[in-house]
Amino acid sequence: MSERVLQDSAGVEMVPPLSDDLDSLACLLDVALSAVGSGRDERGGPLPLGGPVAIADDVRRALVNQALPATGTDPALVLAQLSRILAAGAADPTHPFCAAHLHCPPLAVGVAADLVAAVLNQSLDSWDQAPAASEFERQVIDSLAHLAGYDPSVAGGVVTSGGTESNLMGLLLARDAAATGQARVFASELAHFSVARNAQLLGMDPQAVVDVPTDRAGRMDPDALEVAMTAALRRGEQPAAVVATAGTTDLGSIDPLVDVATVARRHGAWLHIDAAYGGGALFSSRLQPLLAGLAGADSIALDLHKLGWLPIPAGVFLVHDHTALAPLATRVAYLNPADDENAGIPSLLGRSLRTTRRADAFKIAVCLRALGREGLGALVDRCHELATYAASRVARHRRLQLWATPVLTTVVFSYTARTDSSAVNAVLRRRLLFAGKAVVGRADLNGAVWLKLTLLNPQASKTDIDRLLDAIVAAGEEEDR
Ligand SMILES: Cc1ncc(COP(=O)(O)O)c(C=O)c1O
Repeated sequence: MSERVLQDSAGVEMVPPLSDDLDSLACLLDVALSAVGSGRDERGGPLPLGGPVAIADDVRRALVNQALPATGTDPALVLAQLSRILAAGAADPTHPFCAAHLHCPPLAVGVAADLVAAVLNQSLDSWDQAPAASEFERQVIDSLAHLAGYDPSVAGGVVTSGGTESNLMGLLLARDAAATGQARVFASELAHFSVARNAQLLGMDPQAVVDVPTDRAGRMDPDALEVAMTAALRRGEQPAAVVATAGTTDLGSIDPLVDVATVARRHGAWLHIDAAYGGGALFSSRLQPLLAGLAGADSIALDLHKLGWLPIPAGVFLVHDHTALAPLATRVAYLNPADDENAGIPSLLGRSLRTTRRADAFKIAVCLRALGREGLGALVDRCHELATYAASRVARHRRLQLWATPVLTTVVFSYTARTDSSAVNAVLRRRLLFAGKAVVGRADLNGAVWLKLTLLNPQASKTDIDRLLDAIVAAGEEEDR
């Protein structure tokens, strides 16, 4: 018996194995993966049957209505039971009919790398908790800054929890860079909701975010932006930031980045580009031209847990000039004392809003190296082709109406009902969800309910798309009798 094993008076081990016990970990992983397989087989589709009440009941039963019992049970047994329940009740992004959200099926190598990060449990709030991990992050940021068109020797950035946090950082830096006054943020009416919520979190007033109109293709109108910014200036307000979107959540549309940048510059505003979705196009030589002008941004949000096939979270925040991160600088003795820094120990605190921070950069580094730009670009192209195919099928279907040609991997369309199309589309989507048949997205546009396929599964086939559209039409017909 190792002297490190603590026992209670009855000789029962009190401290379960820690992550350095790789043999125990391997056994637990075997148990967990086999339970995931059983749970997935039990589910048999993209989503469990039965809707929210039935699935919540399954979870409560597995927990015996008590997530924290007084005494524990064999860890392998608990892991097996609960992993099976989680998998059986999962929305499965690897299933081709799970096509609603920017929720990608992660690459197996990325999941394995994520596990390595969990095993080693590095924390990027200080170098002495993450010596190699902090350099992995620096290298990842340099490579992605270069990909975005920035000069990596000047640029800076950090790995984030996702687009929401990256957008918050962009707005925070914009606010701090702006002259004092009533700060205004200009974003298209299709910008992600996190822009408005972040402005609120930053203490801006409720009118701070000005909606700029878009054209029918969902792109910000630069002339309307000019008018809105000029009007704000006339009212004595401070145009602090313009947020352009490269890949809107609803349509995948990309604002005219060059023209928007020109207007933003003219008014001295910070330009943040939310490329959380569309940033993935940088990997594809075919689609990369869609992002022309990206490097004109002061800051950029990218999400590799969307068009990057990494497990959540894998957000990235980039700044054109690393000195722009200065407002985040923080000095605390327990994490980055000045004398440590003078002695050559990197200070990590001034990059992020978070303190404890997992080494998400590691799985990004593994996937970037493993697939390379071309490998990732091929996945982007594949999903784009699937979207183009789906749109062509929709356009030819007598009961379906296409909103617009897909820009990235999103197809927006509606089932044309004999009665109220909006109501039928809303209900048919829920009908598919509750039957566990398909996870289809929804977009409310021009006051009507539309359906949305966000195609991020490069292994899906054209036959899968045909069958998914057939299932949608069948659900529509059942609802529209
Ligand atoms: C355009 C855009 N920006 C930001 C976000 C927020 O990203 P996250 O969910 O990673 O915080 C999303 C989410 O879908 C998005 O579509």
